[in-house]
Amino acid sequence: MSDETLSNLLREERRFPPPPALAAAANVTAEVYERAAADRPAFWAEQARRLSWATEPQQTLDWSNPPFAKWFADGELNVAYNCVDRHVEAGLGDRVALHFEGEPGDTRDLTYAQLKDEVCKAANALTGLGVEKGDRVAIYLPMIPEAVISMLACARIGAPHSVVFGGFSADALATRIDDADARVVITADGGWRRGKPSALKPAVDEALTRPGAGRVRSVLVVRRTGQDVDWHEGRDVWWHEVVEAQSAEHEPQAFGAEHPLFILYTSGTTGRPKGILHTSGGYLTQVSYTHHAVFDLKPETDVYWCSADIGWVTGHSYIVYGPLSNAATQVIYEGTPDTPHQGRWWEIIAKHRVSVFYTAPTAIRTCMKWGEEIPARFDLSSLRVLGSVGEPINPEAWMWYRKNIGGDRCPIVDTWWQTETGGIMISPLPGVTATKPGSAQTPMPGIAATVVDDESREVPDGAGGYLVLTEPWPGMLRTIWGDDQRYVDTYWSRFEGRYFAGDGAKKDDDGDLWLLGRVDDVMLVSGHNISTTEVESALVSHPKVAEAAVVGAADPTTGQAIVAFVILRGGATETEDLVAELRDHVGSALGAIAKPKRVLPVSELPKTRSGKIMRRLLRDVAENRELGDVTTLTDSTVMDLIQSKLPGAA
Ligand code: WT7
Repeated sequence: MSDETLSNLLREERRFPPPPALAAAANVTAEVYERAAADRPAFWAEQARRLSWATEPQQTLDWSNPPFAKWFADGELNVAYNCVDRHVEAGLGDRVALHFEGEPGDTRDLTYAQLKDEVCKAANALTGLGVEKGDRVAIYLPMIPEAVISMLACARIGAPHSVVFGGFSADALATRIDDADARVVITADGGWRRGKPSALKPAVDEALTRPGAGRVRSVLVVRRTGQDVDWHEGRDVWWHEVVEAQSAEHEPQAFGAEHPLFILYTSGTTGRPKGILHTSGGYLTQVSYTHHAVFDLKPETDVYWCSADIGWVTGHSYIVYGPLSNAATQVIYEGTPDTPHQGRWWEIIAKHRVSVFYTAPTAIRTCMKWGEEIPARFDLSSLRVLGSVGEPINPEAWMWYRKNIGGDRCPIVDTWWQTETGGIMISPLPGVTATKPGSAQTPMPGIAATVVDDESREVPDGAGGYLVLTEPWPGMLRTIWGDDQRYVDTYWSRFEGRYFAGDGAKKDDDGDLWLLGRVDDVMLVSGHNISTTEVESALVSHPKVAEAAVVGAADPTTGQAIVAFVILRGGATETEDLVAELRDHVGSALGAIAKPKRVLPVSELPKTRSGKIMRRLLRDVAENRELGDVTTLTDSTVMDLIQSKLPGAA
């Protein structure tokens, strides 16, 4: 990073120590770091005892063939038994596992005892459809209890699931069915989205006409919206007929710790989607421990809510496997945050007395745009810990979240991790860490991460470079499905013996980590590396800016020039003066080198369905190029709007 930019970032001096009462009763305390660092495998072996094993593992880590790790390889367990049955056996059958809130206002509570029955019935149904240990099952569902039930039913019979986000197209679904060679698809007629039924089944029908997806035998269909569906006799079966007819008895079988649990595709910016493979024992150990430690979860009293979709890894690890392995009570919500009104989330928090809430920076910035008077109408006093994930959280958004949602009292845990890491890797601990707005700060106990330069040398405190993970961890991906070489090339080749995450990062003077976004997004201006994240944070700290996306566009004199796209807060109008003011604002926050050459007010930004800004497309606009692939955008008309506003943007 440029020295100027770096020194400015280090000027962030706000610190928020843990609330004393929370710290005094916290699940983990400061001593854990040293203990974990002293012997990482021993630390993880201790955490593995959080689980119930059919055969206790004697081995911990097998790293004899790096980068192919095995954890707890001689242990055997059933993941679904760990998430459901054992809690019922421990007398917790009446505890609510899921408070489901449908978008139209329908609700359904499932206790752990009821969840166990449903999972057993679904497991029996899948077996009846011919699914055997090792067979892949594709899941393409809205955020309804059947999504959780389906995943656990697959885990129970040892059939790896491949969940495909319900917002993806027939094409994306077909590619993923083909790559995983799935034989059964679980879907629904549709789900509720912005007050309307949104169909899913037609996309499955279409996907299954593609050559690669032709081997699917059965489609299990949940009736959710009541929409008309085309029916393929002999292939399609209704959930309410087939699953409901099953016995609620099902003996869970134990599988090896390295038995595949799921495949989840990351879209990436180039090439075929990568099928990230996760296995059972190590993964469950890490998500269970991190959920316990990062959210300080007290399963007897907390009500937990993660607003992610089950189609992302956040939903896998922190809706399904982490919370349920810990016997948590949680909320799941089907719809969008603004249906039927912009206070829907806060209304749900007030209704269920949610105490731990986990969401994404993109959602927080959207709520900022809507205004603080909206959450102010609801009683959010039950909240005690707030989490963030998915992108760097700008200090301004962090402060807004803390004040308007957390009532200036809840610690915020900014959790860095990836689909590939399986679970949280870098995060403050709410009872231990004095938090800093915008920083994920500290590798989790048992995790080794650092920042290196181009030559793989560790950088000193106060410097920036590339984030790497230096020791294997239990929840790590085991490979890319069907492509070991691509696994090695993508993650383990850039820096000898280290996992390259693809993110830029820096260490501040205290050694705390700041994540700076994908390295592909770092700009090179007159020989200085400048991170898009920092310029965006500087823009968002201006009172008239709600959101910002920054790209480096080719420039004949400076190599790259900074082009900023901004969404103004309600009321602010675009004038030449305002543009000049914003450029100066960035200049004074980060130094003259970081001043955007152009600032372009727009009404929307292009985002993926998981809420990440697609800077690649903005770069195309800024460089006057034809747009690249827009198929993973939430709304592809956004690009037309931006382009029509900016004839000759470069
Ligand atoms: C990428 C992984 C992890 C679940 C959701 C995303 C970015 C994620 C943070 C954070 C800064 C973050 C990184 C990472 N990212 N969390 N707290 N601070 N950046 O999973 O789709 O696999 O994306 O998301 O760039 O590499 P994913």
